[in-house]
Amino acid sequence: MAIYLDSAIASEAKVVKLWGWVKGITTNPTLLSQSDTPPETTLKNLVALTSGPLYYQLVASDKAGMLAEGRKAFEIIGSQTILKIPATPLGFEVVASLSPEITCSVTAIYSAAQAAVAREAGAKIAIAYVNRATRLLGDGIALVRDMASVLKGSDTEILAASIKSPEEAAASLQAGAHHLTLPLAMLQAIATHEFSQKTVEEFAKGGIGLR
Ligand code: E4P
Repeated sequence: MAIYLDSAIASEAKVVKLWGWVKGITTNPTLLSQSDTPPETTLKNLVALTSGPLYYQLVASDKAGMLAEGRKAFEIIGSQTILKIPATPLGFEVVASLSPEITCSVTAIYSAAQAAVAREAGAKIAIAYVNRATRLLGDGIALVRDMASVLKGSDTEILAASIKSPEEAAASLQAGAHHLTLPLAMLQAIATHEFSQKTVEEFAKGGIGLR
């Protein structure tokens, strides 16, 4: 299992690098637009701040453009590249072409059937947009569960994205997601519980230790 930062802001990547338990970074076109540097510079900065995967989402809309963009991302990011390729008929075709040379994920999956196609096309990762799926389909956690059932026994793993609460993060893992990607505030939220703080304060009152 791995937990990733969902952000293209270098200062946020620096914060989670210090924590030591966030193992990679996911980006998307919207997140890249929030960085104050051009995408190429942003990706170079981000990859220097993680020893794990850096996900880059293709924006080209034709096959030749997508293939070229994927290869360009690999030139910039190197062996840590995971391409995010949309779950469309064209996207699956691009995954089938690129997956022998660059690690591919399929993003914005909204059905277990699409997860099966992602696997057959050669994707290492199938990305479920959990909260968006709840809003659009009624139950994003059920989507993760169905995807896990279809992908059982294969090498294709599930990354749960679009997570809006610690409960949704845990439920995604319980439903079979292998990995999570979360914005900085949500990473802080899953590491925090008010009773943990209260408990530590109680011990601090009368207790002693090494100092
Ligand atoms: C994941 O890779 C996506 O960048 C992200 O989680 C999408 O989340 P949203 O639904 O909040 O846009």
